[in-house]
Amino acid sequence: MTLTSDPKAKNPQELDWNNLGFNYMNLPYRYRAYWRDGEWRDAGLTEDANVTISEGSTSLHYGQEVFEGLKAYRCKDGSINLFRPDQNAKRMQKSCERLMMPQVPVDMFISALKQVVKANEDYVPPYGTGATLYLRPYLIGVGGNIGVHPAQEYIFSIFAMPVGSYFKGGLTPTNFVASEYDRAAHKGTGASKVGGNYAASLFPGQLAHDAGFSDCIYLDPIEHKKIEEVGSANFFGITKDGKFVTPKSPSILPSVTKYSLLYLAEKRFGMETEQGDIYIDQLDHFAEAGACGTAAVISPIGGFKYGDHFHVFYSETEVGPVTHKLYDELTGIQFGDRKAPTGWIEKV
Ligand SMILES: Cc1ncc(COP(=O)(O)O)c(C=O)c1O
Repeated sequence: MTLTSDPKAKNPQELDWNNLGFNYMNLPYRYRAYWRDGEWRDAGLTEDANVTISEGSTSLHYGQEVFEGLKAYRCKDGSINLFRPDQNAKRMQKSCERLMMPQVPVDMFISALKQVVKANEDYVPPYGTGATLYLRPYLIGVGGNIGVHPAQEYIFSIFAMPVGSYFKGGLTPTNFVASEYDRAAHKGTGASKVGGNYAASLFPGQLAHDAGFSDCIYLDPIEHKKIEEVGSANFFGITKDGKFVTPKSPSILPSVTKYSLLYLAEKRFGMETEQGDIYIDQLDHFAEAGACGTAAVISPIGGFKYGDHFHVFYSETEVGPVTHKLYDELTGIQFGDRKAPTGWIEKV
């Protein structure tokens, strides 16, 4: 028996750009490169959506896999923006270092992204729909290698798919619940974008969904007293005196969006910013809170359930003014409507 291949994506003209959700689509082209004997080789685009690897591959057994996620944005003039792709390239290099995998040079990473976007250009959603082309780079250890040690060979690939909003609400607040489980340990792999962290998050995520929440919020893995991550996004809060605060922890993924918001809050809106501890018993300090990330963009957090408490930050139905202002600035830059800080936009 062979597993079913995903059907080819519909023609772009048949897609409903306003109702895409976040779903895999088998677009015409993806990029692939192979690492063997110390170098990347056979790099280029392929139409083959399937990856055939040895059953002994380390990626299958020991999670020797890293990935990234970023988006291509259609601008008003029809051109296409990548948002800070060098940051994703560098983060993937760090993830590779942690899992003992070969690194992809930044230039090769960005060139591969551009090739994939250009080859699938018709699938970059039109300006004004809010939809984007999501890009998923990944790197896997391959080859017959059943011992627990790094693979000898690797595949680097990037595929793409048009996406809408990740959390159902978009800019409408949704509710979250504290997880009893941890996704990562302080000296583990939380700061790396590796598959294992996400495998660990499936069960707590499902429990949160079953209980009617958008996702779970992970607390610090030592004492479960501080907020760490919001599902697969970083947390930020706006204090009642207008400070932008986001957690600092070695088990949090260093979010490109979070660092961009820290910069914009400070440099464009003159806000004080802080990366520090956010105790769940001190949430009254906050006037607003949200989740931020490439997929989440900025999703306001309405209510947060932990133990017997249910804390509402700003409102369960309305986005707060500072969150809205940050959203407009960030998305304005991404879609080319507002001036980007130097080096943030890479034209395809
Ligand atoms: C666990 C986790 N935290 C945070 C983020 C947000 O990071 P970024 O803003 O770089 O997309 C992501 C998504 O990439 C994530 O998976």
